[in-house]
Amino acid sequence: MLVVENLSKIYTSGFFRPQDFHAVKDVSFSVHKDEIFGLVGESGSGKTTIGKMLVRLIDPTSGKITIDKKDITNMRGKELREYWTNLQMVFQDPRSSLNPRIKVGESLIEGLKLSGNIDSIDEVTQDLLKSVNIREEILNRYPHEVSGGEIQRIVIARALSLNPKLLVADEPTSNLDMSVQAQVLRLIKDLQRKHSIPCILISHDIEVVKWMCDRIAVMLNGRIVEEGITNDVIHNPQHPYTQDLIKATFLSDIPTVDGEPGEGHSLHNGCSYAGKCIFVKPECLENEIQLRGDHHKVACILAH
Ligand SMILES: Nc1ncnc2c1ncn2[C@@H]1O[C@H](COP(=O)(O)OP(=O)(O)OP(=O)(O)O)[C@@H](O)[C@H]1O
Ligand SMILES: [Mg+2]
Repeated sequence: MLVVENLSKIYTSGFFRPQDFHAVKDVSFSVHKDEIFGLVGESGSGKTTIGKMLVRLIDPTSGKITIDKKDITNMRGKELREYWTNLQMVFQDPRSSLNPRIKVGESLIEGLKLSGNIDSIDEVTQDLLKSVNIREEILNRYPHEVSGGEIQRIVIARALSLNPKLLVADEPTSNLDMSVQAQVLRLIKDLQRKHSIPCILISHDIEVVKWMCDRIAVMLNGRIVEEGITNDVIHNPQHPYTQDLIKATFLSDIPTVDGEPGEGHSLHNGCSYAGKCIFVKPECLENEIQLRGDHHKVACILAH
């Protein structure tokens, strides 16, 4: 089980002088091993940053990440290198995860070697290929000679061949066409159920999340504004931002929620959506509203 407590990330960067940017603010959630947990929200809301912190590609600024009660937040050096195979992330552009100069089969086997599964490599590879429905002949090609859908399936196979304790899939199908999307999503769902590991699915596509996820969290400007069982959140959204996001998805004549990523960060201390919310009240501009509730959590005064 994955438990995330009060996770925050401040990036320090700048062209002329260093500036702090609070990309993720005080995010907490937990995901059971038989669950797919969705992170949705507009571009720049901090979804990928959370994913990268969970697989320890970047260091959290504060907060705590535990997997099966093991605190991985401050793992470093040798300990982290040894643990890394347990944390697998699948990216939007699958080719970026494979070395372009190495044949696909070599990359797949490299993963198995890392997991110490050397004796039965041929057998395991055959099983893997079968599980992701890939022809053996493809293993002899370079990444640029393989289609996007095939390569994403191979990357997923490689991630799961390492028997990870956590899988993060960041927009895994947004570079694929519709027919292949469904195939790859089904594969992730089937393999996640079979391996019984916590899975985080990051997507801005509500339809994808609705089909894939047991629970979802809606993100806005680095915070979770609503969290709950997928059906509850989608059919009974409580936060005005979630309501607008869902309306924009299912009723195409209503314009999508616009605005620059990060907008609203420094305008006031309160809710990030106050500037666009039709229900806004003076207190919404004062303090950040806490995420509250039991199963269906909402960060909005309307819901409390
Ligand atoms: N290395 C970095 N240095 C500085 N700022 C960064 C860095 N990486 C991301 N950011 C900023 O942090 C914010 C969150 O980025 P992130 O990639 O997590 O968003 P996202 O929700 O995944 O967006 P998208 O849906 O477009 O992928 C953005 O404003 C982004 O510009
Ligand atoms: Mg992203």
